[in-house]
Amino acid sequence: MMRDMIAITDLLGTTHPIISAPMAGVAGGRLAHAVSAAGGLGMIGARGTSSPEWIAEQAAIAGEGATPFGIGLMAWVPQLDEQIDAITSLAGLSRPKLVSVSFGDLVEPVRRLHEWGLLVACQVGNAADLEQVIEARADIIVARGGEGGGHGRDEVATDDLLAMALAATERPVLAAGGITTAADVARVMGAGAAGVWCGTPFLTCVEADNTPAARAALVAADATRYSRVHDVAQGLAWPREFGGRAVDTPFVQRWAGDEDAMTDAARAEHADGRERGDTGYTPLYAGVGVDRLTAETDAASVVRSLVDGI
Ligand SMILES: Cc1cc2nc3c(=O)[nH]c(=O)nc-3n(C[C@H](O)[C@H](O)[C@H](O)COP(=O)(O)O)c2cc1C
Repeated sequence: MMRDMIAITDLLGTTHPIISAPMAGVAGGRLAHAVSAAGGLGMIGARGTSSPEWIAEQAAIAGEGATPFGIGLMAWVPQLDEQIDAITSLAGLSRPKLVSVSFGDLVEPVRRLHEWGLLVACQVGNAADLEQVIEARADIIVARGGEGGGHGRDEVATDDLLAMALAATERPVLAAGGITTAADVARVMGAGAAGVWCGTPFLTCVEADNTPAARAALVAADATRYSRVHDVAQGLAWPREFGGRAVDTPFVQRWAGDEDAMTDAARAEHADGRERGDTGYTPLYAGVGVDRLTAETDAASVVRSLVDGI
């Protein structure tokens, strides 16, 4: 099959078929660089509010020493066009090997990125997403199941979604969502994935942009919940169909499933908690693999532990 003819490592210029997910607020140039230096492909996660200057700065850090790296964008944000302009003007070592765009209308952004000769990956969470990215002609499809951390859909489990994607396209498919151990990597690659796209295992890396307190809370946590609680509490305009999986806390538990009824007092409680740095209120996005996070670590160690499954 065509799928087997181009190894993802050749496509991306990496040693290993391991991609660290773009994670806004956590994965900046430093984490991306460290993952890539260890033989994977590190992705920078842009927030909606990330400026062209921030993107250029982080790309320069990630690409230092000619390591390949990627940048991940969110399709629904009003700043998308400006962010694509920023990426298409990156040159030399700052030019990304891969750009991802997910969560929203993907056809036009993929077309624009292709115009500049960039490789594009898109995350999918159900059959309709899959149809859209095939129409958009994404180069790499990321089958991101409901076990995954951060925003996405909570409809189809990773292994089932991977099987659906492999049946629907001959393009390379990466597995994502709940892949934390070498055994997970071995399972999905055995099922036909071209590689893995992992976020949660990299959350406690010292190279990440989150705080030591957030990393400690992630190590202490062992359960997550999918909801729109943090977005509603902060007034963020995420489309309703993309909730987020985050560490379960009493506040998340109280409002999950009841987000539309959230009171102003609850919003104020959330804002105060975040202001104080109380991790009971920090949006600690993480996948089901959070229970595997046992200590602060570094990107090279995480890549090594995942490579054992190949
Ligand atoms: C803290 C965090 C932030 C995330 N931010 C983004 C993002 O900015 N853009 C994006 O496309 N995906 C984002 N994701 C989703 C990841 O791309 C990926 O789907 C997910 O991490 C895979 O599941 P895992 O966490 O179980 O490995 C984020 C995930 C986490 C945990």
